Amino acid sequence: MKGVVLAGGTGSRLFPLTKVTNKHLLPVGQAPMIWHPLWKLKEAGIEEILIVTGTEHMGDVVGLMGSGKDFGCRFTYKVQDEAGGIAQALGLAENFAGGSPICVILGDNICQDSLKGEVQAYERQGRGARILLKPVEDPQRYGVAEVKDGRVLGIEEKPKVPKSNLSVTGIYFYDAAVFDIIRTVKPSGRGEMEITDVNNAYIARGELAFGTFQGWWTDAGTFPSLAHANALALQEPVPFPGANGRK
Ligand code: DAU
Repeated sequence: MKGVVLAGGTGSRLFPLTKVTNKHLLPVGQAPMIWHPLWKLKEAGIEEILIVTGTEHMGDVVGLMGSGKDFGCRFTYKVQDEAGGIAQALGLAENFAGGSPICVILGDNICQDSLKGEVQAYERQGRGARILLKPVEDPQRYGVAEVKDGRVLGIEEKPKVPKSNLSVTGIYFYDAAVFDIIRTVKPSGRGEMEITDVNNAYIARGELAFGTFQGWWTDAGTFPSLAHANALALQEPVPFPGANGRK
């Protein structure tokens, strides 16, 4: 399995912190934000990783992480020219994936649990998609899953009246069909190609399974969630401890 970390977007909700740098380079605990999702992939045994980011800060992202040698990984980089949505960013991973299954993590998602068990569960599943859910207090900020009898019936992106408190976290497993599905996705009302549309397409095919996080999970894309992520990450081991002495 290969890994994909999506670190594009404008970071507008964190302005002015993101005026001269990329959101995913901001500190979370003792490491840059993006090290956390990268570490989760590495910890789960995934070392072949594509990092997608925008044009403005690609140089800084590459400067921070290089080839992946210091991380025990092999990094490939791809530019997303404009912030056209998560599904658009993921579409850039098609050649990199080369038909392999992929584990995709949004670059601002920070979690406590190891992904090892979920990687194994997806390998047993063998095809389709797998998402990870987490009950939250403010589901209207996220994709929200309606679950019945152990099945996801549908996902709504940032609903005003959520059907449950189960947020769809930014950790996804897909087979190679995801790229054909992305080609059918149209921009949403907010002008973005939504990952929720991709997941709903898998539901329509009867091929979406889910797991649930036991430990904490948060994004870090708003001031309160960035502060929360910092507090949580400070209590955890530093990701890539061996890479911390780099220039
Ligand atoms: O954090 C989980 C949530 O992430 C999900 O529950 C939602 O269903 C999903 O749409 C997403 O919602 P957000 O509104 O929080 O996504 P945001 O625009 O903040 O983007 C999250 C990450 O995705 C960002 O850190 C980098 C990547 N991204 C985003 C966009 C819009 C890209 O790589 N390219 C993009 O164009």
